[in-house]
Amino acid sequence: MKVITVENQEQGAQKVLEMMKEQLDAGKLDVLGLATGSTMIPIYEKWVESDLSFENVTTFNLDEYVSLEANDKNSYSFFMDEHLFGKKKFKKTYIPNGVAEDLEAECAAYEELLRQHPLDVQFLGIGVNGHIAFNEPGTSFESVTHIAQLTDSTLGVNSQFFDNDKQIPDTALTMGIASVLAAKKIILLVFGEKKRFALKKLMEGKTTTEYPVTALIKHSDVTVITDIKDLVK
Ligand code: GLP
Repeated sequence: MKVITVENQEQGAQKVLEMMKEQLDAGKLDVLGLATGSTMIPIYEKWVESDLSFENVTTFNLDEYVSLEANDKNSYSFFMDEHLFGKKKFKKTYIPNGVAEDLEAECAAYEELLRQHPLDVQFLGIGVNGHIAFNEPGTSFESVTHIAQLTDSTLGVNSQFFDNDKQIPDTALTMGIASVLAAKKIILLVFGEKKRFALKKLMEGKTTTEYPVTALIKHSDVTVITDIKDLVK
């Protein structure tokens, strides 16, 4: 695992921009796995401002809330349109459909699409409890795209991003841990003191389903970008 320390989130976003440029210039970026959340906002801002071309890139998002329509302001689909897809052209973008009539079938179809389009790079944020995508503590490392029950911790943290009085859904569709680990390269972004505990668990180097992020220890090409400098030896 490679760890890059930066002064702050802004510098982290700059680093990511450079890495993306390298991958694109080398012709090594056909399929890109994307994440949502506040961590990703400055990253996408930089891509939008840049002259990088994603016209030949197909994207897959990690997850989506069950029951939110794509045009619902709280959906991840809306987030992606607002921060990236509405401003940069991509070849094709995929996000799990949280309002599909048959959610199990939607998960199976999404996993099949991933199999047909192997991820070159997967971006990940991290939950304060160590979750990645919506793979909560206890999720099997063998898991593929599935319906996930969100924990009280995640519901508490994520409800602050709900900007109306709508109730936050307590289920989501998410790529599984095995789906994430299938990516050739993984970039994990960890910014801010609130993520210290989760990063510490990863740095301890012991895999346990109690902290889903520790599954990354098994992967051969992981880069962590963080501003929690003192945790890195
Ligand atoms: C959600 C998403 C995760 C994301 C996490 C962290 O739970 N499902 O993919 O990594 O939030 O969000 P933030 O970047 O806002 O801290």
